Amino acid sequence: MSVQKEVKRITTNTLQEMKNRGEKISMLTAYDYSMAKIVDQAGIDVILVGDSASNVMAGHETTLPITLDQMIYHAQSVVRAAKRSLIVVDMPFGSYQGNSKEALNSAIRIMKETGGHAVKMEGGEEIKDSIQRILTAGIPVMGHLGLTPQSIYKFGTYQVRAKDQEEADRLIHDAKLLDECGCFAIVLEKIPANLAERVAKEVRVPVIGIGAGAAVDGQVLVLHDMLGITQEFSPRFLRRYMNAGEMMMEAVSHYVKDVKNVEFPNDSEQY
Ligand code: KIV
Repeated sequence: MSVQKEVKRITTNTLQEMKNRGEKISMLTAYDYSMAKIVDQAGIDVILVGDSASNVMAGHETTLPITLDQMIYHAQSVVRAAKRSLIVVDMPFGSYQGNSKEALNSAIRIMKETGGHAVKMEGGEEIKDSIQRILTAGIPVMGHLGLTPQSIYKFGTYQVRAKDQEEADRLIHDAKLLDECGCFAIVLEKIPANLAERVAKEVRVPVIGIGAGAAVDGQVLVLHDMLGITQEFSPRFLRRYMNAGEMMMEAVSHYVKDVKNVEFPNDSEQY
């Protein structure tokens, strides 16, 4: 009889305990079963089913086109794979900005249909009612401030946010508001490191950065960027841990050559 080893699931409480004892939180995106299985087994704390799937999986220029149904499909695949990580699912553009009832319905669909553990929403004061209503239903919410890609047409550029005092003050205000509302963590994207450090010190909940320096409570990257599968995206904050894009290209062209030269399959690769 084989004995299955129990894997202890990371929860929102685990993340708070990690912040309290100064242990950094690791987070990566995943959008499908096979990748999520590898990421989970490698020991990641949080898997984000990001709406960056719109770019990475579907090839759209922005995160705006991805739908709630498509996010649910990606999240279902990730949930089937991940045994240990906390799974956070992005609420896509248009699924929560309208009104708080619509936001709650979208969040409930995500939780019911995917088995994910929490949702992530971009924005502060302007979506406070929706966040509160979702939290009241018992659904954990991760906030997201700074460069919020769903607002790219308002910003007009993907450059660093909150460099001026007015925007920095607004960001600090929003971070404190998300903390007080009961969000369990906040993502800060592409803002000055000293501002992110200040936010991480001033809010109780974990702050997870992407392009927000080292003094926050954890880091998140888009999986396909850090693996080097996406080639065209090279912001300063991105560290590529391998060049999987080149390795995959080499493997595929090797296969094409073998097929053309009838070197695949060989005698031992057939029945
Ligand atoms: O969708 C996403 O991948 C994200 C991360 C960049 C934080 O929101």
